[in-house]
Amino acid sequence: MSNIILQIENLSFTYPNHHQVLTDVSFQIARGEKVFFHGSNGAGKTTLFQCINGLLKIKQGVVRFNGRVIKSEMERMKLISIVFQNAEDQIIAGSVFDEVAFGPINRGLSKEEVVEKVERALRIMNIEHLRNKPPHFLSYGEKKRVTIASILSMEQEIIILDEPTAGLDGQQKEDLVEILNNLANERRTLLISTHESDFSLRCADRIIVLDQGKLLAEGNAEEIFSRYEILKKASLVKPIIMEVYEKLREYSYLESDHLPKDIKEFSNILQNYKTK
Ligand SMILES: Nc1ncnc2c1ncn2[C@@H]1O[C@H](COP(=O)(O)OP(=O)(O)OP(=O)(O)O)[C@@H](O)[C@H]1O
Ligand SMILES: [Mg+2]
Repeated sequence: MSNIILQIENLSFTYPNHHQVLTDVSFQIARGEKVFFHGSNGAGKTTLFQCINGLLKIKQGVVRFNGRVIKSEMERMKLISIVFQNAEDQIIAGSVFDEVAFGPINRGLSKEEVVEKVERALRIMNIEHLRNKPPHFLSYGEKKRVTIASILSMEQEIIILDEPTAGLDGQQKEDLVEILNNLANERRTLLISTHESDFSLRCADRIIVLDQGKLLAEGNAEEIFSRYEILKKASLVKPIIMEVYEKLREYSYLESDHLPKDIKEFSNILQNYKTK
């Protein structure tokens, strides 16, 4: 079996009000990859995600899953799940447990299987204590965890997260990074949009940048964030770690050819350099 799980070919999309949002977008994604999507407000990230997952009907272009063209929106929704930008838009059930159980029940699983999948998702998201609460009374970050749990319980191979860090506090963002890494270790394929370059430097295997509905660039974090014109078009700031790292090298305080992804890696580089 090919390592490519998802292929998007020549996808264009126009809303019913004749507003063309996506133009001839093509890319492919390998199984288990964490691909981050950048692009300024209105660039088309959410529209792209909704086309891929089947919430929007595609008239031009193709989505392939494991090489097979998936024309039916319903089938795409079954294969690819999406965590919405706004948790409020996703929550429908009266309790956290029921919310997380909704997907597995819809798939016709037995009661035991449903409970097992729900418990697992609650555990991963660290919200077991919220199981009997009504989701609407939870904090924003707690709701976000519930929506991610409700997607995890369906156990699809591809998960799309639309701006998952929006509204989360510092610790919750740290937890999210760990959750994403755990999902990637399970060989789940993740498509994630964000405006936070520090977040994608830390987690992305690859970055895709959209500009006005077109694919502007793709590459690793170092390739993307070192190009000023991309940062400008995607309204991005260079990750702070990359900025400091480059300055230290520029002023000859540091010799290194390995861009650190986070503070821990940066500390190690500095420590090793000092002891040389
Ligand atoms: N239902 C709709 N009908 C018409 N136009 C829409 C609709 N939804 C979005 N758009 C337009 O499509 C364009 C792309 O919007 P989209 O939400 O996909 O961008 P985005 O990259 O996700 O932006 P953000 O970073 O703000 O989330 C915008 O110009 C938006 O106004
Ligand atoms: Mg969006």
